[in-house]
Amino acid sequence: MLIAIDGPAGAGKSTVARALARELGYGYLDSGAMYRCVALLSLEHAGQPPAELAGAAKMEMQLASPSAAPRVLLDGRDVTEAIRAPEVSEAASRVAADPDVRRVLVAKQRALLAAGDWVAEGRDVGTVVAPQAELKIFLTADALERARRRAAELGADVQVVLAEQAMRDERDITREHGPLRPAPGAVTLDTTGLGVDQVVERIAALALACTPSS
Ligand code: C5P
Repeated sequence: MLIAIDGPAGAGKSTVARALARELGYGYLDSGAMYRCVALLSLEHAGQPPAELAGAAKMEMQLASPSAAPRVLLDGRDVTEAIRAPEVSEAASRVAADPDVRRVLVAKQRALLAAGDWVAEGRDVGTVVAPQAELKIFLTADALERARRRAAELGADVQVVLAEQAMRDERDITREHGPLRPAPGAVTLDTTGLGVDQVVERIAALALACTPSS
């Protein structure tokens, strides 16, 4: 069973996808973390084509404890915090527009998702990476609420986060390759005003409904 959760930054994808993976005992793939890893590498190795860096990189996600965010290892180095820095977020949305980077990362994501049960989150999981996913969710929320959530997470100013978010949303929506949009057949959930538990329960119920009964 594969559950694809796509949507804009701050819609609650990561929190919801992790909680859901934990509840169902499924693997968890944060495809955004992979774009962030490539962004970090491209900042560190200016001048080298990001797609080459992406191809050579070994990216792993380890669920450390049930409540903590998964640790992200890049070529064995723990980059969990480093990839969340604002300059990496900015660079991630730029490298994500590079079709060669997308080709490399989509192939890596497909290889991971080929076996087992997964909750995979991103922008193009239901549209490009795994259109065959049994359940596709498009998670969204009011732009100001999304910025408020991100700002609280980062300890940053809401207006600054709102401005950066608008720029990244625009890039994600308008890019030619793997643009952000609901996949055909996706269920759109607006999480504005909803708690994580409510969203997780809704998706878990939808997952149950599409599991073939024995
Ligand atoms: O989800 P997150 O904010 O960590 O993603 C970082 C960046 O990676 C996003 O700004 C987006 O441009 C890009 N991304 C993408 N496709 C995905 C996941 C993330 O283009 N499947």
